[in-house]
Amino acid sequence: MKKLEDYVVSIPDYPEPGIIFRDVTSILQDAEGLKLAIDSLQAELDGLDFDVIAGTESRGFIFGMPIAYNLHKPFVLVRKKGKLPRETVSASYDLEYGSAEIEMHKDSIKPGQKVVLIDDLIATGGTIEAAAKLVESLGGEVVRIIFLMELAGLKGREKLKNYDVRSVIRYEGN
Ligand code: PRP
Ligand code: MG
Repeated sequence: MKKLEDYVVSIPDYPEPGIIFRDVTSILQDAEGLKLAIDSLQAELDGLDFDVIAGTESRGFIFGMPIAYNLHKPFVLVRKKGKLPRETVSASYDLEYGSAEIEMHKDSIKPGQKVVLIDDLIATGGTIEAAAKLVESLGGEVVRIIFLMELAGLKGREKLKNYDVRSVIRYEGN
C-alpha cells in the first residue's frame, strides 16, 4: 500500500535554487492520497478536547475544513491581509524578504475556547506563530498545532516551544 510520503512530489530548486518544494497538489489530485492526508492529520487530534479549528490561508483551509466537518467543529479562517469584511485583529511576521500580515475576525474565537491550529507545512514557523498570537489575542487557548509536513531543518519548532506541535511527515532537511 502507498504511504502518504509516496504521494508527495518534491521539486528541487523551486521557487529558488537550493529549496526543495514539497508539493501538496500531488497528494490532493489522487483520491487515495487526499483521503490518507485528511485521515492522518485528523488522527493527530484523537482524544483531544477542543472547540474550534483555525486554518491559515490558503493551504491550511484545504486540510482544516474537512477535519472540522468530520469532527463537527467550527472552522475559522486566518486570512492574508485585507480579505475579511468585518472587524479584525492582525499580526505580522517575517518572510525571507520583507514581512506579511494575517488577520482573523474578532468574533471568530470566543475567550476561553480551545483552538487547534492547522496548516499544510511548517518551514520557519513564522506563519503559524503569528496565527497563534492572533488566537491568543482573542482570548483563545492553542491546545494543539498540526501540520501535514514539517521541514525540520528550518527549525520552525523553536518558535513554538510553548505548544503541542504534531506533524505527519517530517523531512530532516529543508
Ligand atoms: C506556505 C505554507 C505555510 C507557510 C510555511 O504558505 O502553506 O502556510 O508557507 O512557512 P513558514 O513556516 O516559514 O511560515 P504560503 O505563505 O506560501 O501561502 P499559501 O498557503 O497561500 O500557498
Ligand atoms: Mg500557507
